[in-house]
This record gives sequence, C-alpha cells and structure tokens, in this order.
Amino acid sequence: MGQEFTSKEKTPLENIEDWEADLKVRYPKPKTEETKEKSDYRNYHDSERVDTVKEFYRLNHQYQTVDFVKEKQKEFLTFDKEEMPFWEAIDYLNTLVDDSDPDTSLDQLQHLLQTSEAIRADGHPDWFVLTGFIHDFGKILCLFGEPQWAVVGDTFPVGCQHSDKIVYPEFFESNPDSKDVRYNTKYGMYEKNTGLDNVNMSWGHDEYLYQLVKDQLPEPALYMIRYHSFYAQHRENAYDHLMNDHDREMFKWVDKFNPYDLYSKVPVPPDAKALRPYYEDLVAKYLPATLKF
Ligand SMILES: [Fe+2]
Ligand SMILES: [Fe+2]
Repeated sequence: MGQEFTSKEKTPLENIEDWEADLKVRYPKPKTEETKEKSDYRNYHDSERVDTVKEFYRLNHQYQTVDFVKEKQKEFLTFDKEEMPFWEAIDYLNTLVDDSDPDTSLDQLQHLLQTSEAIRADGHPDWFVLTGFIHDFGKILCLFGEPQWAVVGDTFPVGCQHSDKIVYPEFFESNPDSKDVRYNTKYGMYEKNTGLDNVNMSWGHDEYLYQLVKDQLPEPALYMIRYHSFYAQHRENAYDHLMNDHDREMFKWVDKFNPYDLYSKVPVPPDAKALRPYYEDLVAKYLPATLKF
C-alpha cells in the first residue's frame, strides 16, 4: 500500500463543497461572458474558508504525483469493492454534506438536480440531462475514506510540467514530480498533441466516474464527466499542446457543460420527490440498476 495520511491531511476542508464554492469566486462568470479583467481571486479575503481551501490545494498539489495516480488507478479501477443500487448510492452521497454548515444550503442531490434540470429546461438530449444528474457521482469515493484532495479539486495532467495557470501553482514546488526530469518538461512523459486519452490526470471524482460509466454513455457525455474539473484547460487553455483535434472538438461539450455545473443555482429548489420518477426512468435507460464500486 502507498503512503498513509493523517486525518488532518485527509480533511483540510470543513466541507468538500467548499472547493466548488471557491470555484465560483475564481470564475464568477461563464467563459462566454468573461471580460478581459479576470476575477480578483488573489485579493479575495473572506472568512476562514480561504485558508482551508488554500491548505486543501497545498496538499493536492504536493501529493498528486504520477505514482499516486497510478496507485489509485490500481486500487479503484477494479470495481470490486462494493455493490450498491444506484438510488442507494445517491442517498449515501447526500450524507456527505454536513448539514450543520449554514453556508452550504445545497445537498448533493440538490446540486445534481439543479444542474440536470437546467440542462433539461434548455431542451438538450436525455443523455446530457443524465450527465448533469450524475456528474458528481464519483464523490462516492469518500465512502472509502479517501482524502478530500483525491476526490475533489481542479484536475490537471500528471507526468509533465505543471502549468502556472493552475490555481496556486507555487504549491507544485513540493511535488516531487516537479524535480523529476522525466516529468518536469513541457511534454514530460507524453508526446506533442498525444490526445488526452493518453494523458493521466490527477486522481479524483471525474476520472473515477468516467471509468465507471465509460461503456454506457455517448462520447460527449464522457468528456463532460471526465474533464469537468480540468479548469486549467477548459477555462485557461493551458494544455493545448497535449490535446489532439478530436479533444478540441469534444471540449466544446465540456465548455457547454461548465455553466450548468457552476451557475445553475435557481431560486426555487427542485422538488426531488416529484422529479424522482423521471430520473428513475432516465437512469434505467442508460445505467445498470446496481453499480459496482
Ligand atoms: Fe464535480
Ligand atoms: Fe458539480
């Protein structure tokens, strides 16, 4: 087994939703409405969340190495740990958010439903709606006691130079890969424009869910799931040199998805109970009744 982490190292955030709350500070507007002046993220000081989020990124950037990612792939991509009916897993996911936190009014199910209902309201195909509904399902990794920074957080390629467009790039100083000549050049272990399918991303809920559903959904859905936290690319274009033409085509879907994920908070929360039959049919159309984790 790999490295052990202390509980302080595993849970720097009071709540895993603090990362997404922080994303909205960093990207207050959708890409299409962004002006030249970027958000004043660096000067943003509000409460202790800033410190816990910063510590979260420090750990994430230090520990997400090529070796760590490979170890997690080996550990989790066998899907032999647990079987659970889809809807039971949703209930579990909902327990992840600590209700005692007054800042977090949305539970996971509400976030998923707001995302998917906004997609549905815009008349997109049903697999796109389903993608919205399940996109954060990989957070089930918390079930296995994984460190928060190995479940959520911006993702980035490992095995090549860390872009300074990734949030808090200075923290990569403590990542051993940044001193390793195999990994610290522009292309590192990859070839120019190799295509993202050949690139290992930092480990988290995106890659895990992609691997879990990769045979069940159309390719645009899979791109949205796999790269929705890859802000350094879909918002900053920092890794064009690893992408191929097909990735560029597919990232149009990732771009389309991001506003629904980040900005679809509606004044009246969706009625989970009333919507349930629609989503039961939708899930049954594409996914097996019981999932293997
Ligand atoms: Fe997510
Ligand atoms: Fe999300």
